[in-house]
Amino acid sequence: MKKVYIETYGCQMNVNDTEVVFSILAAHGYARTEEIAEADVIMANTCSIRDNAEQRIWGRIDYFNTFRKAKADLVVGILGCMAERLKDALLDTGKVNIVAGPDAYRSLPALLDAVCEGHPQMNVELSREETYGDISPVRIDKNGVSAFISIMRGCNNVCSYCVVPYTRGAERSRDYHTIVREACECVEKGYKEVTLLGQNVDSYLYEDVNFAKLLEMVAQVSPSLRVRFSTSHPKDISDEVIDTMAAWPNICHHIHLPVQSGNDRILEKMRRRYSREWYLGRVARIRQTMPDCGITTDAIVGFCSETEDEFRDTLSIFEEVGYDAAFMFNYSERPGTLASKKYPDDIPLDVKTRRLNELIELQNRLSLESNRRDLGKVFEVLVEGPSKKNDAELCGRTGSNKMCVWADSTHKAGDYVKVRVNDCTSATLLCELA
Ligand code: 5AD
Ligand code: SF4
Repeated sequence: MKKVYIETYGCQMNVNDTEVVFSILAAHGYARTEEIAEADVIMANTCSIRDNAEQRIWGRIDYFNTFRKAKADLVVGILGCMAERLKDALLDTGKVNIVAGPDAYRSLPALLDAVCEGHPQMNVELSREETYGDISPVRIDKNGVSAFISIMRGCNNVCSYCVVPYTRGAERSRDYHTIVREACECVEKGYKEVTLLGQNVDSYLYEDVNFAKLLEMVAQVSPSLRVRFSTSHPKDISDEVIDTMAAWPNICHHIHLPVQSGNDRILEKMRRRYSREWYLGRVARIRQTMPDCGITTDAIVGFCSETEDEFRDTLSIFEEVGYDAAFMFNYSERPGTLASKKYPDDIPLDVKTRRLNELIELQNRLSLESNRRDLGKVFEVLVEGPSKKNDAELCGRTGSNKMCVWADSTHKAGDYVKVRVNDCTSATLLCELA
């Protein structure tokens, strides 16, 4: 049996895609290995979202090639967004044998067979239909508690800075029957939490089933299965979705709602198609219906022509919303995007970085304030396993997605436990069994 090793970069969708790839390869006689040195096939499932994500992969390709000394017929493969974006440029290096885009994974066994005859292989065809709906992913997470389920692929939004519509193609929703079936399989295998994944879950639509209906169907699979989802688009998150979250006790009260910028001119240039006021209106509706809902975000600083005052609007919307957590980035120009064609990337790196640090500093304070508001409260958390720092402690998340740690020698991964918050850092709630 040939052994395959895969490294995964980028988003949760990529993690789930790697699980799909392992499933496809397993059906063709390939075994998974976690030891790179014993692999016959080494692959990276890649991300193109920012230039630094791609730079890291170039370094890994060189590293993978060092294993050719010991194994002359080693196959090195590049999967995912960078494969889709760079295509032949990857093969031209002479360091890569297989290039396969996000919709080409069913062809991997055939590509691998063909490579054995000595020719590099590429399939970067994008599809309007492929959802891998019939494939049961081989779960690669270790805890056996939490699983990803992709509910759609691609993206039709075309935000001006974003490479994803080009690397993952047009949006398509997966048949809900296969989604519900996969959630049932997760329960049978002992999973306690599923996260429904899509670039824009709020635009899920298969026949007459929209995202709110799908959420309800998955919530009905089992009352002890927690349901999460990511990512919501502020222009599309509906009252129906918010009300469905409130109605089902096993749907976690957490919404990742990327704001990107707090300034209307920049939002317009980003083609986000909502205003600051609209965004704040959505946050108000969420809080009115679910006062305990965790709200997290993504933001980009230093987008083309962003002035200091416009950046201050991002700071002020962070302050106004009081996010529980955020991912924050310097703008990185991506070739082929609308922004790269229309607007110069004109904010100097030192200015971007200064703005980024200011935003991160603000968010650290907001995260700490958010955690302090939870002091003394009791939460039901799902145990994920031992805490990273201390074997005598367990860790798990609240419904609102905050990480808790507490001393515990009686429970195990997959248990639901009630904990009381005694103390906190900006990243963690320090708890005891309640
Ligand atoms: N530069 C910087 N950050 C980006 N993101 C997407 N495209 C870019 C880019 N070109 C960020 C957005 C998105 C997150 C996944 O990555 O904030 O929500
Ligand atoms: Fe990276 Fe976006 Fe592709 Fe995910 S979809 S791997 S975040 S470029």
